[in-house]
Amino acid sequence: MASGSSNGDTQKKAPTPSPLRNSKYFQSNMRILITGGAGFIGSHLVDRLMENEKNEVIVADNYFTGSKDNLKKWIGHPRFELIRHDVTETLLVEVDQIYHLACPASPIFYKHNPVKTIKTNVIGTLNMLGLAKRVGARILLTSTSEVYGDPLVHPQTEDYWGNVNPIGVRSCYDEGKRVAETLMFDYHRQHGIEIRVARIFNTYGPRMNIDDGRVVSNFIAQALRGEPLTVQLPGTQTRSFCYVSDMVDGLIRLMEGDNTGPINIGNPGEFTMMELAETVKELIDQDVTIKVVENTPDDPRQRKPVITKAKELLGWEPKVSLREGLPLMEEDFRQRLGISKK
Ligand SMILES: NC(=O)c1ccc[n+]([C@@H]2O[C@H](COP(=O)([O-])OP(=O)(O)OC[C@H]3O[C@@H](n4cnc5c(N)ncnc54)[C@H](O)[C@@H]3O)[C@@H](O)[C@H]2O)c1
Repeated sequence: MASGSSNGDTQKKAPTPSPLRNSKYFQSNMRILITGGAGFIGSHLVDRLMENEKNEVIVADNYFTGSKDNLKKWIGHPRFELIRHDVTETLLVEVDQIYHLACPASPIFYKHNPVKTIKTNVIGTLNMLGLAKRVGARILLTSTSEVYGDPLVHPQTEDYWGNVNPIGVRSCYDEGKRVAETLMFDYHRQHGIEIRVARIFNTYGPRMNIDDGRVVSNFIAQALRGEPLTVQLPGTQTRSFCYVSDMVDGLIRLMEGDNTGPINIGNPGEFTMMELAETVKELIDQDVTIKVVENTPDDPRQRKPVITKAKELLGWEPKVSLREGLPLMEEDFRQRLGISKK
């Protein structure tokens, strides 16, 4: 109690809230919330942000596609907190920055419960923007190259508005992200919220869900199990693949920089699905076969980012090539599948 208070109790000192209060862990000057931080990209982002002793990191995740396992090395750390939370519900925490990643990214999962996916994109983003507004935090949304749909412009620049089917089976994800971007810019214009929008292109690396239907994880798991690599028709459709450490670097630069975006973050190296299968086969097991299978509806024919904006505004470009990144992912998948190298 303050000295000279009216009840005459002048001796009593204010209690110390916790002995840890004065430890180095509370000298942080940035408290950061990561929604979806137990997922693939989110957990790598946690690793990178936790390297800085000035950061306190809070993860909010409902574990739909993420796992505590991805964060096990931080659980119990004084600068780290993990909250089981669904972003479709409101959350109040005092933070300086919000990385809003929560949303299933793989078609198998986002199509599993499309209504929930669109709620996560729309209501979840509204809730996080509401939080940013209340506490004055800067917020970054991980949007997606899917906002370009099946693009009529190739490669894709940020000013291309996209060619998206509004009523297809993927719409819960791509239209959901488009609304999320709209919400970000409306809150920015109407309420002056500091926003950052990243348009992420295909990203791969350790901790991806095995068997989640994404092409790189599919091919690696199939090659390790000695199963045929299933290339969806026609096999000439292209994607570009960014290694996760490059992605995390790009997201942090975007958050720390002065630009709202949207900014494409991805690796412009373009591969057909057949080329990717051949590369995985060559690197992992030359005896596996390649099998052509039916495709899923609305699968885009081509995807390749123009990253001029990222280069000029963020000083960012990817460093890890596909041939360097695939073996790192192979090692992680081997460990998790319990398959040692021949
Ligand atoms: N990986 C890619 O290639 C890629 C490409 C484009 C965009 N993105 C975007 O990046 C973000 C992260 O993707 P990822 O690959 O790490 O996916 P992921 O599925 O591994 O991670 C998503 C995380 O969000 C959590 N989550 C889902 N719904 C939630 C909800 N309602 N409330 C709270 N948590 C919820 C999941 O449990 C998971 O931990 C996503 O927003 C995704 O749309 C990823």
